[in-house]
Amino acid sequence: MNTQEFDRRRQRLMEQMGDNSVAILPAAPVRFRNRDVEHHYRQDSDFYYLTGFPEPEAVALIKPGREHGEYILFCRERDRDSEIWTGARAGQEGAVEDYAADDSFPIDDIDEILPGMLEGVDRVFYTMGIQPDFDQHVIHWVNHLRKQSRAGVHTPGEFVALDHILHDMRLFKSSHEIKAMRKAAQISAAAHCRAMQACKPGKKEYQIEAELLHTFMTEGSRFPAYASIVGGGANACILHYTDNTDALKNGDLLLIDAGAEFDYYASDITRTFPVNGKFSKAQAELYQIVLDAQLAAIEQVKPGNHWNDPHEAAVKVMTQGLIDVGILNGKLDTLIKKEAYKPYYMHRTGHWLGMDVHDVGDYKIEDEWRLLEPGMTMTVEPGLYIPAGTKGVDKKWWDIGIRIEDDVLVTKDGYDVLSCDAPKEIAAIESLMGQA
Ligand code: GLY
Ligand code: MN
Ligand code: MN
Repeated sequence: MNTQEFDRRRQRLMEQMGDNSVAILPAAPVRFRNRDVEHHYRQDSDFYYLTGFPEPEAVALIKPGREHGEYILFCRERDRDSEIWTGARAGQEGAVEDYAADDSFPIDDIDEILPGMLEGVDRVFYTMGIQPDFDQHVIHWVNHLRKQSRAGVHTPGEFVALDHILHDMRLFKSSHEIKAMRKAAQISAAAHCRAMQACKPGKKEYQIEAELLHTFMTEGSRFPAYASIVGGGANACILHYTDNTDALKNGDLLLIDAGAEFDYYASDITRTFPVNGKFSKAQAELYQIVLDAQLAAIEQVKPGNHWNDPHEAAVKVMTQGLIDVGILNGKLDTLIKKEAYKPYYMHRTGHWLGMDVHDVGDYKIEDEWRLLEPGMTMTVEPGLYIPAGTKGVDKKWWDIGIRIEDDVLVTKDGYDVLSCDAPKEIAAIESLMGQA
């Protein structure tokens, strides 16, 4: 993404912050896996959204109307020795030239420089509680000013949660963001197709995960957006199963929930298919219920409908389906009211999707479900899970776990399924697997 996109975002944020205010954002900390082995570094989404700056040990300050520039980036200095070990740094010059900062200072000087930038400011926009260590720094900087109040230094009177404004901005995707999300979804869909074709009884779940990763990386995604779930048979009934260590069995279903991250944007796709390429009668019956529920839910994605409309549509189709196959008994309305589907469908039908897989943004406004608007992006992912031993359910349904998940953009007239390249009709899946 070019620097203009980030600049536009900062301008929009500043319009909402108003004068005499400042926003402070820390970069994500480096996290250690063990001793001196680091986890792969991924920039904090809020920080990246406003800066496009990928390095750790950085702090962005946004100060509307500041004479010497409104966007200040504290970051690491260039350092030949460190760069030999861990790679190039932008330094202060790079921060200005390549990342469009108006002004940049070494991160090591922040305690001397930043408090001065808070002088005369009424409101500090900052998200407390995410990085407790950094919270302490912010408190320290403000206290530092307080101590000088008798010398006439004006200290900020108000702390405002930055995430309220920022997360509402992030909820509405620009054309740049939609392009990245479509690409992430296309890569992921290709990976799901490869996984379907590679699947054979006897393979380990992680060997199928390897096929997903192969496509992610060859197609331009450096990392998955979240830990891939590759669960065969009973493991498909564990919602966040990520061990992926078991061997796949002939006659079982395989549930794969995996999505690539592309240019900091997530995709999140689930497909469920038979390990041997052919759905059994029982599997097909339940699969069709989930698919019908998902299609009904997607139909509800349109401007003017509210957040919960897709979920309600899915619940209705799912409950009727469970009545039709004899898993539930009773009247549709009563069973929905009693949430009789919940032992088999215990999660909600989706979540916002964006830079984070479970993306930011409120689902309710003043206690009412939020209305859908163009530019919002969400998943639609109903599922049915019947582990072995489920009381009152015929054995023929046991160890069937099914989820079907797509990434859906709200458009002016309705919806656009970004992940539509991953087949989900029974015939389409069997045909693709048959070509392997
Ligand atoms: N991949 C996690 C989810 O579907 O919400
Ligand atoms: Mn999801
Ligand atoms: Mn998912």
